Amino acid sequence: MRTSLCDTLGLEYPIFAFSHCRDVVAAVSKAGGMGVLGAVGFSADQLETELVWIDEHVGGKPYGVDIVMPATSAGVDGADPEALLAQIQAMIPDAHRQFVNELMDRFDIPPLPEGERAGGVLGWAEGVARAHVDIAFGHPISLIANALGSPPKDIIDRSHEAGVKVAALAGKAQHAVRHVNNGVDIVIAQGHEAGGHTGEVTTMVLVPEIVDAVPGTPVLAAGGIGSGRQIAAGMALGAQGVWMGSIWLATAESSSAPEHLERYLEATSSDTVRSKSYTGKPARMLRSAWTDAWADPNGPGPLGMPLQNILTAEANARIARSHRKDIAFVPVGQIVGSMNSVRPVRDVMFDLVNEYIETVQGLSAALEG
Ligand SMILES: Cc1cc2nc3c(=O)[nH]c(=O)nc-3n(C[C@H](O)[C@H](O)[C@H](O)COP(=O)(O)O)c2cc1C
Repeated sequence: MRTSLCDTLGLEYPIFAFSHCRDVVAAVSKAGGMGVLGAVGFSADQLETELVWIDEHVGGKPYGVDIVMPATSAGVDGADPEALLAQIQAMIPDAHRQFVNELMDRFDIPPLPEGERAGGVLGWAEGVARAHVDIAFGHPISLIANALGSPPKDIIDRSHEAGVKVAALAGKAQHAVRHVNNGVDIVIAQGHEAGGHTGEVTTMVLVPEIVDAVPGTPVLAAGGIGSGRQIAAGMALGAQGVWMGSIWLATAESSSAPEHLERYLEATSSDTVRSKSYTGKPARMLRSAWTDAWADPNGPGPLGMPLQNILTAEANARIARSHRKDIAFVPVGQIVGSMNSVRPVRDVMFDLVNEYIETVQGLSAALEG
């Protein structure tokens, strides 16, 4: 399974694990892959705490940080959370607020306890993402990845000066070419099946298109990869490694809420939808009464990023508190259908590598026979 990316980054296996959970990140890196911590949901101070913890638990193994700097989002300026929230709140139409209130009544979700406030995700505002980058550079990271576009040039330059590789997700070959022209070192070709924000083109079609579009640049296959057979398929399509997100949500180290875990274990691969209901951009999640309500042509429809998440922040906090699994926001990819048990990261890694080896050996034997 060794590819040149393993040598570049000091990895045993070219298996990259996106996770918001520091325990998963440290466990994957310790098992020979590369854990990459998703920063978007953290404040700058929280991110510092998480990275200090990883430094103490990763045993000197390489790890990375993922930020979200969208190439396009409604213009909001600054890094101060309160000021950003006030700017965004002022942009939200009353009809949308009323719709959210109606949904809370329709679904019978209790209010938050007195004095409890819901913040919402601000990590995709450029000022906050820049604060994340500043924090990340205070730690021995090996990789910085960006969703939703190339990072700005100054961040790419700063990374290279620090010896940190830059990766960016791409859902189209044109995105990949743009990333490479902007100085990105590794392209993550993420197909339609993926959990989280995702495009229209499937992994099977996207990976070879991107591999051909950016010759000489390492490509990671992402979206729909949850087994050694799927890793072998990604490598057969020309990728130098794989980038996996969903599979870690059902590991023993993951901080997934119990009601989310129940849904991962029972869902089939047909139970996800792409919905703008959480962030304002299409993201894959389990279908629920909430995603249906936002897709209803008689409703107002979702706002864009970053407005939609702030509009629904309190509703999301109320739903999370109610532990109602029929309404919960549960982002995950189509491989949820094969996430049927909870296992430690080390066992998942072991099985991935073994099944990959068996698959490649089987294919070689078929060639000889
Ligand atoms: C719960 C969840 C949250 C995600 N959040 C982000 C994110 O903040 N930044 C990012 O670059 N990718 C994010 N992704 C996408 C992953 O990085 C990865 O590309 C994707 O999960 C790969 O497809 P898979 O889910 O089929 O493994 C997220 C994925 C999931 C499942």
